[in-house]
Amino acid sequence: MVRAAVLESVGSPVVIRELELAAPRAGEVRVRMLASGVCHSDLHVRDGEWDRPTPIVMGHEGAGIVDAVGPGVTTPRIGQLVALSWLVPCGICRSCRRGHVWACPDSPSYRHTLADGKTAFRGVRSYCAIATMAEASVVPAAAAIPVPDGTDPAVAALIGCCVTTGVGAVLKTAAVPAGASVAVIGLGGVGLSCVMGAAVAGASRIVAIDRVASKLAVATAVGATDTILADGDAASTLRALRDLTDGGPDYIFEAIGRPETVELAIAALPLGGTAVLVGMTPLRDRASFEVYPFVDGSRRILGSNYGFAEPSIDFAKYAAWTLDGRLPVDRLIDRRIGLDDVEDAFAAMRRGEYTRQIIDFA
Ligand SMILES: NC(=O)c1ccc[n+]([C@@H]2O[C@H](COP(=O)([O-])OP(=O)(O)OC[C@H]3O[C@@H](n4cnc5c(N)ncnc54)[C@H](O)[C@@H]3O)[C@@H](O)[C@H]2O)c1
Ligand SMILES: [Zn+2]
Ligand SMILES: [Zn+2]
Repeated sequence: MVRAAVLESVGSPVVIRELELAAPRAGEVRVRMLASGVCHSDLHVRDGEWDRPTPIVMGHEGAGIVDAVGPGVTTPRIGQLVALSWLVPCGICRSCRRGHVWACPDSPSYRHTLADGKTAFRGVRSYCAIATMAEASVVPAAAAIPVPDGTDPAVAALIGCCVTTGVGAVLKTAAVPAGASVAVIGLGGVGLSCVMGAAVAGASRIVAIDRVASKLAVATAVGATDTILADGDAASTLRALRDLTDGGPDYIFEAIGRPETVELAIAALPLGGTAVLVGMTPLRDRASFEVYPFVDGSRRILGSNYGFAEPSIDFAKYAAWTLDGRLPVDRLIDRRIGLDDVEDAFAAMRRGEYTRQIIDFA
C-alpha cells in the first residue's frame, strides 16, 4: 500500500489515502518518490478552476528512484534518479510530427492514466500519468528521465515542472537574445525560473514584479537586476516598469495566470515587444487588448506550454546547469513539508507565501 494525496472531486480538499499500486508492466516503471513540488497547476485543479477526472492522485512535479521496471524496459534502470515529465508525447499527432512535442494534445498524460487507459492506483487516476504526491508511483517509462548523479532530488523535482517551464519559456519559446530587456510578473517557481532563464540568456535588464515583497529578494538572489512591488494599481506598476526599461521591456513573461496581469503584460510592451504567456488562467477566462496599437507597433504574444520542453534532452541540460551554478534552483525552495501538509501548502500558496514548497518523502 502507498500513501497518496487524493482529490476526490475538484474543488474539495485533498485527502491522504492508502492505495494499492499495481506492478509496472511493459513500458512502465515504478518510482519511489523522493520529492514533489507543489505547483500552482495543482492548486488550479484543487480549487476547481480546471476540470480534471476524479478521483485522482495529485502532483506533477516530482523526482525519485526507479525501484522496479516492467518487462523489456531498458531505460531508465533500477536505482537511477529520475525527474518526471508531465507530458509524454503521443508521437503521431500533427504537433508531434512537426517535432513540437510540447504541444501534443493527444498525450496519454492528459488522460491521467497509463498508455492503455488503465490506472496504476486501483480505481484512482494519476495526475498527468505521474502522480508525484504519492510515496511511489507507476509511470510510463518515457516519463521517467534520468538526471545526473549528484542532483538534489528536490531540485530534480522542480526540473520536472517549474524550471523547465520558466527557463524554457525564455530560452526556447521566446529565444531571448543577449542584451534584451526582460520583465517577469509573478515570482513563484515558474516566474523565478523565467528570471533564471533570462540571466542565462544574458539579458541586460531583468525586472522582477510581484505583489508580495518577500518574493522580490529571492528574485534578486537568482538574477533579477531590478524589482517592482506591485501593491498599487496597474498604472503605477506600468509606470515603474517603463522607467526601468526605456519605455517597456523587449520581453515580458506573465507567470501568474490572471486576465488582469495578462492585460498588464500586453499593455507594458514597447514597439516590437513580445509578451510570453506562461501562467494559466482558470478555464474559459478571457483577456482583451487594444488591437490597433498592437498591430501598428508590431507587438507579439506567444503562448508557452511546458517551456517548449523536449524532456529527454532538456532535463539533463537543466540539471547540469544546476550543478555548475548557472541555475540556482535550490534558492527557490523555502519550505519542506510532509505529505500530510498538502492542504496547508495550498492555503499558503493562495496567500502568496513561499516561492516553492517541497514535499520531502525521504
Ligand atoms: N505554461 C505552462 O506549461 C505552465 C507550467 C506550470 C505552471 N504554469 C502556471 O504558471 C502559473 C504560476 O505557477 P507557480 O507555481 O509559479 O504559482 P505561484 O502561486 O507559486 O506564483 C504566483 C506568483 O504570482 C504572484 N501574484 C499573484 N497575483 C499577482 C498580481 N496581481 N500582481 C503581481 N503578482 C501577483 C504571487 O504573489 C506569486 O508569487 C500558474 O498559473 C500555473 O498554473 C504554467
Ligand atoms: Zn506545474
Ligand atoms: Zn502528439
